[in-house]
Amino acid sequence: MEFTIKAAHPEKFKTGLLVAGAFADGPLPAASDALDAASGGRLAHLLKRGDLEAKAGSTLLIADPQGIAAERLLLVSLGKREEFGDKAFRDALAAAAKAIAAGPAREAAVTLADVEVAGRTHEWRLQQAARILADGAYRFDAMKSDKEAKKDRGAKKLSLLLADKPGVREETAVRRGSAIAAGMALAKDLGNAPANVCTPTQLGDTARALGKQYKFEVEVLDRDDMEKLGMGALLSVARGSHQPPRFIVLQYKGGKGKTKPVALVGKGVTFDTGGISLKPAAEMDEMKYDMCGAASVLGTFKAVAEMGLPINLVGIVPATENMPGGGATKPGDVVTSMSGQTIEVLNTDAEGRLILCDALSYAERFKPACVIDIATLTGACVVALGKIPSGLLANDDELAAELTRRGTDSGDRVWQLPLWEEYQELLKSNFADMGNIGGRFAGTITAACFLSRFTKAYKWAHLDIAGTAWVSGDAKGATGRPVPLLAEFLIGRAEAGVV
Ligand code: BES
Ligand code: MN
Ligand code: ZN
Repeated sequence: MEFTIKAAHPEKFKTGLLVAGAFADGPLPAASDALDAASGGRLAHLLKRGDLEAKAGSTLLIADPQGIAAERLLLVSLGKREEFGDKAFRDALAAAAKAIAAGPAREAAVTLADVEVAGRTHEWRLQQAARILADGAYRFDAMKSDKEAKKDRGAKKLSLLLADKPGVREETAVRRGSAIAAGMALAKDLGNAPANVCTPTQLGDTARALGKQYKFEVEVLDRDDMEKLGMGALLSVARGSHQPPRFIVLQYKGGKGKTKPVALVGKGVTFDTGGISLKPAAEMDEMKYDMCGAASVLGTFKAVAEMGLPINLVGIVPATENMPGGGATKPGDVVTSMSGQTIEVLNTDAEGRLILCDALSYAERFKPACVIDIATLTGACVVALGKIPSGLLANDDELAAELTRRGTDSGDRVWQLPLWEEYQELLKSNFADMGNIGGRFAGTITAACFLSRFTKAYKWAHLDIAGTAWVSGDAKGATGRPVPLLAEFLIGRAEAGVV
């Protein structure tokens, strides 16, 4: 998506589609008021008649609006004035994005970024608007052969119309929003790609290409390298598969010399059958999304590099399939992790923690300011929190609070669960230092407890994205989350000069 920001009178602006907001009650925002005046009160008339539903994000398309230069005018409801806030603002933008992406206009203009949102700055509105509008244009049709299905649609050029002349801050905000959308698009592409395409090798190649494009370091380790490093837990998961595993390390050095990096660790199980503890058949196709943590790391690197953020960032992606082959790990097998701690694999379907624990041990060598791992780790997280927030667990309350706040700012929210010592005993094993499962209760917490045994050397937070990385049903597809959260977190760190 190509954005321009302009100071303009919306009624005089020539475009294929002009988007303007209207509250369900009370006066029109300034831009819409100008449109109403130019059209001889037509907008107010239609609103009064009830042609636009009250709910934020409802739309009304007016073709060839009289007195207005645009070919089409899309009115978007902002909901009730007293209820207007982050959510209604985003809902209105998402509705606009949908109409822009599906409609016949090849370029469009949006006035919504000029509507005040309580407690939010002008730059926040512009960044959100650019991100949501660009993200709304995302499509995945790489696997379709039908030319009609692949046909280019919607607007590729968008003008964000403001009352006042934009400056550097406005330009930066829009650039950030569109960089985050580009990172989300990469994460979605990787997630949506089927597991016969998005293999561990393919993830490694994608990381290498990204490093080449944006000039940062990428190293892709193979099975021999992992053996030398003693990554017995990660390798135990790869054993049942014909696809060779990969261990991908990315280093973006945008910060000053010795400042400690933030490290992102992403679960990259390119297909999770459960292994010998085989999953049931229903919806197993969705386990191609079990590498969405890895995808979010690559997507965040793309966004950060695109923004040119002055930070140091490390990315670590352990990538493998989890398959029930003749060589596969069996329930009861004991494996030795890179840390030296031994693990009784009581359930081969709890494989995410096995690959992450070695990646978390590997992260120590970077002496990171903090480590955030991102993983589609537990079905229990979807039961506990649904598909609205990602689960958050951390060994540092300040880091947890920072992530929670950035989640709210970005609209990519998280909710913290406790990581209390009392839960640790559920991981007891009769035969090894720990088991890899904690029994029936508190599955998300015991998974994080397991990881916490490998993160003692640094501040650490864990994001369980099992409920948020993709949606099921008719609109099945990757969401690109939590790229917006991670990008917002890193922007915050860059602005504070911490990393
Ligand atoms: N990848 C799954 C978690 C998952 C399941 C995410 C469904 C999204 C939807 C993970 O590897 C897994 O299988 N976890 C098990 C852990 C259990 C065996 C302790 C689970 O959640 O059932
Ligand atoms: Mn599993
Ligand atoms: Zn899994």
